[in-house]
Amino acid sequence: MTTNAQSKLAARYGAPEVSPLQQWNETIDQLLEHRSVRAFTDQPLPDGTIEALIAAAQSASTSSNLQVWSVVAVQDFDRKSRLSKLAGNQTYIRQAPLFLVWLADLSRVSRVAEQHGVELEALPYLESLLLGTIDAALAAQNAVVALESLGLGSVYIGGIRNDIEGVAKELRLPPQVYPVFGLCVGYPSTERPAKVKPRLPQEAVLFHEVYSAVGKQNVIAEYDERLGAFYDREGMKAGSWSEQVVSRLSNVSSLHGREELLGKLARMGFGLR
Ligand SMILES: Cc1cc2nc3c(=O)[nH]c(=O)nc-3n(C[C@H](O)[C@H](O)[C@H](O)COP(=O)(O)O)c2cc1C
Repeated sequence: MTTNAQSKLAARYGAPEVSPLQQWNETIDQLLEHRSVRAFTDQPLPDGTIEALIAAAQSASTSSNLQVWSVVAVQDFDRKSRLSKLAGNQTYIRQAPLFLVWLADLSRVSRVAEQHGVELEALPYLESLLLGTIDAALAAQNAVVALESLGLGSVYIGGIRNDIEGVAKELRLPPQVYPVFGLCVGYPSTERPAKVKPRLPQEAVLFHEVYSAVGKQNVIAEYDERLGAFYDREGMKAGSWSEQVVSRLSNVSSLHGREELLGKLARMGFGLR
């Protein structure tokens, strides 16, 4: 590995002493540089950007080639503002020139079946909801990789699920379609450049042959320290990773309306057997 590659790997794990990787190329190099961008310049996107990102998204694998996802590209400022309000007032939704709303979309296959006069007995199951959600996520991540290769930045917006019925109304979504997440896209501001956020050590996430969490406590404690040091370096006030996990998940109020998802999805036409 080159010194440059080794420093990227060290940033990814917040660990200067991390063992070098034996495999490295330009794609891995770019992937390891990912960071969420929450401040954008007002530079518009070049013509054809959306289409290029969607071609990349459509190149992702899709379960049984069903392609049960869609995306709404929002550029209108007022609509972005309304979506921002629905997603917990996250200002960067308004600021980014492009806001992509990624959808699990079972409506298209339902229309195909209707044309054939066939009832889709296998559709109203939780499995279909997972199918659409997984497809949408894989497609979106391909778009993220593509946009980063073009010098653009992005941040996913899970807050779009705070009020999926409100979002459906705003985007005129038909039944059997729900917004999985949003994605703000634009040129990263150079005033507040985002940094690579260290991840858990591989020992915490990678198991060989069988799962085993035995003896992993010290791995987490070590990561708490590394992430804490990262936040200190960046002048950010944030608890350790363990504290963040607990504060994010110990109370239903942190779900901001998403605790009602099951009922909302049922009302939006998803069968959840
Ligand atoms: C599905 C999903 C939803 C997310 N939702 C939000 C969000 O609503 N607001 C936000 O600021 N960041 C959101 N993020 C970004 C994460 O906070 C971010 O990816 C994580 O902290 C790791 O940082 P990094 O992407 O810079 O490596 C989301 C990420 C994912 C994958």
